[in-house]
Amino acid sequence: MRVVDLIRRKRDAGELTPEEIKFLIEGYTHNTIPDYQMAAWLMAAWIRGLTPAELAALTDAMLHSGKVLDWSDLPGRKVDKHSTGGVGDKTSLVIAPIVAAGGLRVPMISGRGLGHTGGTLDKLESIAGFNVNLSLAEFRRVLAKCGCALIGQTEEIAPADKKIYALRDVTATVDNPFLICASIMSKKLAEGIDALVLDVKTGSGAFMKRIEDAEYLAGLMVETGKRMGKKMVALITDMDQPLGRTAGNAMEIAECVEALQGKGPADLRELSIELSAWMFFLGERTASVADGRKLAEEMIASGRARDKFREIIREQGGDERIVDDPQRLPQARSKLDVTSQTAGLVAGIDCERLGVACGVLGGGREKKEDTIDPAVGLEFHRRLGDRVERSATLATLHYNSGARLAEARQLVESSYRIGHAAPPPRPLVHKVIGG
Ligand code: URA
Repeated sequence: MRVVDLIRRKRDAGELTPEEIKFLIEGYTHNTIPDYQMAAWLMAAWIRGLTPAELAALTDAMLHSGKVLDWSDLPGRKVDKHSTGGVGDKTSLVIAPIVAAGGLRVPMISGRGLGHTGGTLDKLESIAGFNVNLSLAEFRRVLAKCGCALIGQTEEIAPADKKIYALRDVTATVDNPFLICASIMSKKLAEGIDALVLDVKTGSGAFMKRIEDAEYLAGLMVETGKRMGKKMVALITDMDQPLGRTAGNAMEIAECVEALQGKGPADLRELSIELSAWMFFLGERTASVADGRKLAEEMIASGRARDKFREIIREQGGDERIVDDPQRLPQARSKLDVTSQTAGLVAGIDCERLGVACGVLGGGREKKEDTIDPAVGLEFHRRLGDRVERSATLATLHYNSGARLAEARQLVESSYRIGHAAPPPRPLVHKVIGG
């Protein structure tokens, strides 16, 4: 079998057999197929799409590139949630402690920043000492002790996704439903969970800008999970503006701590409670989603979710003091306000552009080797429909280097459209699929 033939066939809209897809994934995982050939195949797949048989084969090959975990010796249901990614999308770090405090187990395998979106692993690494690369034995120990452990794809678990994810990030091959489905479902199915809640984002800051595309992606993932015997639900949620008040790794951790104290922005709190509620329901901890909401609220109000976050940080080697004193998180040295040129209403936000601006400040990667500055990011002061005066501050850039400041500033400035009419209101949750 020659890789060049598989690239050519996909380029020409042909179909690959499951054996050919397995060959491609195994070869890339074991470094016998180089980045440039995998990147070419991914671009061909991005353009041509995959057949249902190819998608099943790709997900299966990526899932079995490493170990499939089995927690049957640990009591309790195992559940997880995964988001398709957005700007300021930080709910995992609020939800995981809530759900673990509420009595379910959450073995969460997350990703790094992808494209213009932030990643849970990069956020966690802004906590000094936090180790997202636990060995399998450590992952088990933390999960058994805390009811939750947060790691990334490793050499042992979903290694194919680890490599392909990093390659897609820098080759413009992220925003494709088949590649997203295989990426998410391969690592989630490797987690050994009973149930999965998917947060499929739609809007200007999502990979799926149109709701129909988000629904299509949700359908692919729900079907894939159900086929593997998992309880599944997908919530199509809004990403037409950033979630919460910040985008940037350390800044988002501070915002999560606020949410765990029952404070912070309403959209972050509401969405975290809704997703937790579905986890409680699918994990059979509560008899309904409404009861799940009550339980989630109770976990926050009692301080148990916040205590759980402290415990997880401690067990994974991080500085747990950030929970009581978020000032200990990395802080950028300088700030710059971006102001409105005119008076009016915030009529539109190009949320993807805000995510790109955050990356330009150093909060994301443009090459695989790039390192992230955990302190930088954006603080948002205005939301869709807000009235603004001329010179009102729209957003604040938190930065350490002036090298690309002008570019970031221009991106942020041009993200906000000020007009005479507010856009029609959009719900936080557009639709529920499966469940
Ligand atoms: N999240 C993932 O884990 N993978 C994707 O491809 C997109 C979002």
